Amino acid sequence: MNTVCVLIMAAGKGTRMKSALPKVLHSALDRRIIDYVIESANQAGVMPQDTAVLVGSGGEEVEAHITENFPEVKVLWQHEQLGTGHAVKSALEWWKNYDSLIVLNGDVPLLKPESLRELISSCRENDCTVITFNAENPGAYGRIIRKENSVSIVEYKDASPEQRQIHEVNAGCYAFRVKSLLQIINSITNNNAQHEYYITDALALMNEAGLTTGAFTLPEEEMQGVNTQAELASVARTVRMRVLSRWMNEGVRIADPESTYISPDAELSHDVTIMPNVQIWGRSRISEGSYIGSGSILTNSIIGRNVKVIAYAVIENSELKEGSKAGPFCYIRDNTCLEAGAFAGKFVELKNSHIGEGSKVPHLSYMGDATLGHDVNIGAGSITCNYDGEHKNKTHIGDNCFIGSSTMFVAPVEVGEGSTTAAGSVITKKVPANSLGIGRARQTNIADWSLHDHHHHKTTTEGEK
Ligand code: UD1
Ligand code: CA
Repeated sequence: MNTVCVLIMAAGKGTRMKSALPKVLHSALDRRIIDYVIESANQAGVMPQDTAVLVGSGGEEVEAHITENFPEVKVLWQHEQLGTGHAVKSALEWWKNYDSLIVLNGDVPLLKPESLRELISSCRENDCTVITFNAENPGAYGRIIRKENSVSIVEYKDASPEQRQIHEVNAGCYAFRVKSLLQIINSITNNNAQHEYYITDALALMNEAGLTTGAFTLPEEEMQGVNTQAELASVARTVRMRVLSRWMNEGVRIADPESTYISPDAELSHDVTIMPNVQIWGRSRISEGSYIGSGSILTNSIIGRNVKVIAYAVIENSELKEGSKAGPFCYIRDNTCLEAGAFAGKFVELKNSHIGEGSKVPHLSYMGDATLGHDVNIGAGSITCNYDGEHKNKTHIGDNCFIGSSTMFVAPVEVGEGSTTAAGSVITKKVPANSLGIGRARQTNIADWSLHDHHHHKTTTEGEK
């Protein structure tokens, strides 16, 4: 069997990003650039343990990210960055035991798995194959020199004026037969304009040694690199459109693709409707028939079937079950769950709370660390006083309770099922089941009192001072 490994080069500085963050850790949508490349290798059928990321500049941060998110992917170090040829050579002890080596620049997040598969199978034909694209503006890319039976690359800085006219350029993705690369790798020198060891020199060396070289061309869009913030934004836009097309093909209605952001990690079902200016991040899942209204931002949340998120809802790490409703203007966070048919309405914040089936929190309320049974109605302006300055305390409200407007629950506290609280109550101790809890000052009425007299009196008093 032919064994294949993938080496992702990510040791360079990425100076042109003008950022303290290593280049490959920048994100397009909510996924890091390096993650796209690793993911693509994985989808092309390369096992994580046969994939390595070469780190150097800012390497600790990149290594920590890889170790945390892709524990099986190897991290290799290039302590001094002396060029891409040096980079490949510094990982030699790792790749020399495979039959084929795929080398990828760490900054080509749009490379598709099917293209990578084509690159892998090119090892059957050539000792080295490179991916090229026809650049509208070839800038400083390495130029592709095609001869009848061979291909080589000349770096822009070393190229003649005629060579600089060539628009076919090197994308930075290579396939090598390991045996052949081992034959010539020590012959790569830094005798060039940048005094760097170039992996691109491998092709000319192979041609001289009578080995075979070849190339195939992909669309420029797929080979877009990330060297500047502007290029990052452009790559992010392409990823965003790819994700949106994928879901539209699956039957999702996206009212305004121009203003919609969906993470590559999110999953949607057919007959979901996404209104303008919606963002869906992380591992969110949205089931069929649900509607996500304008201005809503969902992160790592699960939306069941036929849910209506009316508009301007922020939902984080929470779950809205079948037929529940939320919004407009609500914040649902920290493992909150709305059971089937529940409702969180206008200016409502729910934190780490469980809202039972058919229960409603329609207006101006905060429920934190609360458990509501089924068919509870929370009157407007009710609040769980869940934080005593030191601890978060729980409120439990039983099934079928009717909570009067502006009830304050001083937690920890409990209301038994079927109970009612009077509007404006401050509930500090348990309300038993099927009872009325009243905790408010009694109203006093003062007879023969007028606002006018009151003001007049006050003014005279001050005048006497
Ligand atoms: C390289 C190619 C060029 C190609 C272009 C495509 C060479 C000599 N040139 O140029 O032909 O058109 O990519 O983007 O290879 N890296 C290391 N260690 C190093 C140097 C670089 O790991 O010592 C990594 C970088 O992090 C980056 C990749 O290699 O991911 C490419 O390096 P970069 O400096 O961007 O090469 P280019 O000058 O763009
Ligand atoms: Ca580059």
